[in-house]
Amino acid sequence: MKSLFIAGNWKSNKTQKETKDWVRSFGALVPRIGSDAHMTVIICAPFTALSALKDAMVRENIQLLVGAQNISSRDAGAFTGEINGHQLKELADWVIIGHSERRTYQRETDEELSQKVAMAKAVSLGVIFCVPDAQTPIPQGVDVVAYEPVWAIGTGKTDTPKNANAVCSQIKERASGVRVIYGGSVTDENVLTFVRESSIDGVLPGGASLDPEKFHKLLVAAGE
Ligand code: PGA
Repeated sequence: MKSLFIAGNWKSNKTQKETKDWVRSFGALVPRIGSDAHMTVIICAPFTALSALKDAMVRENIQLLVGAQNISSRDAGAFTGEINGHQLKELADWVIIGHSERRTYQRETDEELSQKVAMAKAVSLGVIFCVPDAQTPIPQGVDVVAYEPVWAIGTGKTDTPKNANAVCSQIKERASGVRVIYGGSVTDENVLTFVRESSIDGVLPGGASLDPEKFHKLLVAAGE
């Protein structure tokens, strides 16, 4: 049985209070699920919720890992509003870089994204690097690549497992040694069809990670 990698992406959702409520509700669900040898489970939260998320996980004794959704491409210094790698490292184990929403709305370029990966690796953060296809450049040092077709994000439409598998396999040929996951409207109902495919190592659910019960159902379904 392959070991799965599942990262929930909360995007710009949840206050600190909502974060604590999520963790409490998730912790009360049975079976109790966390990261183990079979599954790495990460919640990628907004910067403002990272500390509350980390503390609440410790309090509830839940073994989920914490991820951020962005990192500054620069080191510490006069960069107003930026959060650098050293600051993140105190709060997170992982970071998402290159999500299509940031490529679109913040106009992040391939060059800037590779600087961000270098900054994350300099402080030993794990990197989940998002790409919309098999051709987009993948910087050195990335740990996990998430294939996310833009038209499937938040639309309720998914790529077919067969095509997603083909794209993930092409990505693996280009970036040897990385794990490759699929993202785009993943739910508890369709997750198994993706993770059953030989080249898909896990998933990156957005909407389905916001509700603790739905996310828990997704994890249970993925492990079947
Ligand atoms: P979605 O988002 O699951 O809501 O489609 C996935 C993502 O953007 O990472």
